[in-house]
Amino acid sequence: MAAARQNSVSGTPPPAHTTLAYTRTSEVEDLPHATKKKMADHLRKLEAMFTITPQRMRMIVEAFKETLENGLAKPGQVVPMIPTYVFGWPTADETGEFLAVDLGGTNLRVCLVRLTGGGKFEITQSKYRLTEEQKQDDGQKLFDFCGECLKAFTDANIESGEIQKDKILPLGFTFSYPCSQDRIDHGELIRWTKGFGAPNTEGHDVVAMFRKSLALHSVPAEVVALTCDTTGTLIASHYVNPATKIACIFGTGCNAAYMERVGDIPKIAHLGIDPNAEMAINCEWGAFDSFEHENLPRTKYDVIIDEKSNKPGEQAFEKLISGRYLGEILRLVICQLIDEGTVFLGQNTYKIEIAYSFDTAFLSLMESDPTDELLMIIGIFSHFFALETTLAERQFFRALAKLVGRRAARLSACGIAAIVSKMGYLDEGCAVGADGSLYNKYPGFADRIHEGLVDIFGEKGRNIVTHHAEDGSGIGSAIVAAMTKIRKDAGLYPDL
Ligand code: BGC
Repeated sequence: MAAARQNSVSGTPPPAHTTLAYTRTSEVEDLPHATKKKMADHLRKLEAMFTITPQRMRMIVEAFKETLENGLAKPGQVVPMIPTYVFGWPTADETGEFLAVDLGGTNLRVCLVRLTGGGKFEITQSKYRLTEEQKQDDGQKLFDFCGECLKAFTDANIESGEIQKDKILPLGFTFSYPCSQDRIDHGELIRWTKGFGAPNTEGHDVVAMFRKSLALHSVPAEVVALTCDTTGTLIASHYVNPATKIACIFGTGCNAAYMERVGDIPKIAHLGIDPNAEMAINCEWGAFDSFEHENLPRTKYDVIIDEKSNKPGEQAFEKLISGRYLGEILRLVICQLIDEGTVFLGQNTYKIEIAYSFDTAFLSLMESDPTDELLMIIGIFSHFFALETTLAERQFFRALAKLVGRRAARLSACGIAAIVSKMGYLDEGCAVGADGSLYNKYPGFADRIHEGLVDIFGEKGRNIVTHHAEDGSGIGSAIVAAMTKIRKDAGLYPDL
């Protein structure tokens, strides 16, 4: 099985100056490569595994809808349908100066947002890259790092005169992991997602932890609201486009939020909120089909990803869709073909055998390669993995990327369709604000979602249109903080 690797003839990685331009050598032509026919046979099998038919999509939507209803009815469900305590839509006349901190999947972002009314805003921001170690280090240390970065940011802005000295600014904290909330400035982390695993955080109130680090670094800020990126995106998108009724994130993780009638959230009936009031729901739909795995068509590659992840069984829907996993799915298919001796025979494959070494961005690049020779794909394999490819292999890899990317988009359409169908938005139509690297950068992702919606609903599916959303974790979070201040100042549910 490992013969292909042991027989390696060229193990030298490309020199640092290797560029994506590539010249084929005669030596490369002599390597034993997979034939066109063999690749076509493999592709047919994979096509059967990764294609989701319209009928299957409709079945998924039905199961999804039921899951959403369960999450609203009872606490502690797999898809938790989190009441966010964001009451209704913004008026677009919210004003003021706010800080926003976004602890998402890849970066930490700190922002100073000025809402100037009439749906307008100004934003100043800084980004800090999170290391893999920080994601696994003690939770309080992670929050302390946030506090430290925010302190540096506020100090710099006080010095430049952007922030008034001695002013305590209201802060919106975007923490994009599932948290159960009893009120808007509280949230117990249910579980880490997206590869995070910082101990001593799950089951703890992340706002309390964050406040502790703000005090430690004497940051002039008061946490007013905790949100997740998706809720922020819903609010920010509606702020500029009032037709927006649903927001989705398709990035390192995936999720959706929408506005629900309080009377239709039975699990918070005891709070005595006016049933006709509206509240944003953070679905946390990435957890759909977790543990039971009854509804989603998982391939053996998806099962491997799940079992080897730091959270086996969890985030089943997200693991088929989000940017954290798509590259890994493709890599696992390639590794199987290597093991079978179908591709890269006689080449040293150690680089591509490293888990998570195949970035999802490579899938985007492969799909958008405009050249007949597929030069971009040559570049990816030679530059990053020191592997030579034939045209037949490159065409195969591109087709494979398309299968994986298309499946992700069609499953995403199922999630959107479940909310649309539950809320009865199909006839009147609605706009869906969407954000995240997959949605923004993967070629054709949005078109494939739209195609999927037509497969589910027929022609009426065209009434549901996704569009690039406003920045939820910066602007959205600031608007949520502003709305919360206005609500509490008016004495409306001040304890929530
Ligand atoms: C998290 C969500 C988040 C989504 C997109 C998921 O893994 O659980 O809270 O909205 O990723 O960032």
